[in-house]
Amino acid sequence: MADQRRDLDFYPTPPDSGLALARWIQANVPEATRRGVWLDPAAGYGALIEALGYEGVLERATWLAYELQSQFRDQLDRIATTRTVDSLAVDWPAAHVAANPPFGMLDEFVARIVDHVAAHGVWAFVLTRLQWLDDRPLSVERYRRCRPANILRMPWRNRFTGRSPSCTHCWLVYAPRLFRAERTQTEWLERPVLSAEHELVRRHHEMTSTYEDAA
Ligand SMILES: C[S@@+](CC[C@H](N)C(=O)[O-])C[C@H]1O[C@@H](n2cnc3c(N)ncnc32)[C@H](O)[C@@H]1O
Repeated sequence: MADQRRDLDFYPTPPDSGLALARWIQANVPEATRRGVWLDPAAGYGALIEALGYEGVLERATWLAYELQSQFRDQLDRIATTRTVDSLAVDWPAAHVAANPPFGMLDEFVARIVDHVAAHGVWAFVLTRLQWLDDRPLSVERYRRCRPANILRMPWRNRFTGRSPSCTHCWLVYAPRLFRAERTQTEWLERPVLSAEHELVRRHHEMTSTYEDAA
């Protein structure tokens, strides 16, 4: 059976992708920033927030979670200050951003994040398919306007659900001026090895299969 596109692109961040980013943040982002206020503007059930806190990297951050669907509210309330809102329709506080936005609205989210970084001098991390950087005739203009400081390639194929086709992804890093080189830096992340019994893996499976069963 063909995989159905989920309501509002509910495709939680796979734990290895979240942990790979956490390890990059640990090595590259100042401790004071890691203890600051962070926003996930498309938070789902909180998979990305949990992964970034798991190895202690952002465990002292204050998290804000914005999510359109109210069904995840109880879970998010345990790890963040939550708002059930359309993120693109509300103001954002001067927080650092970590996001795995709905793919169908990636352009809108990235544009919003780029403006946010420029206005507040914060850090932002955005998950996207690698292909998004290159496809459509818009790509050159988009890249000029939304040039990331770093592209963190994940050299493995992500499968967001049991059935979805796999493809490669990257994290785009938008950084304050001080941490930005003249040109975009490309790096390859190492894949964390996680067993099927890993807490984050079990939770990801539980959340995605529950959703698939209900569909
Ligand atoms: C790809 S999922 C990622 C979830 C989460 N960030 C994670 O890493 O697991 C995108 C999420 O964005 C939510 N969403 C879609 N449009 C939104 C909007 N305009 N404002 C807030 N949340 C939105 C969806 O309900 C979905 O849970």
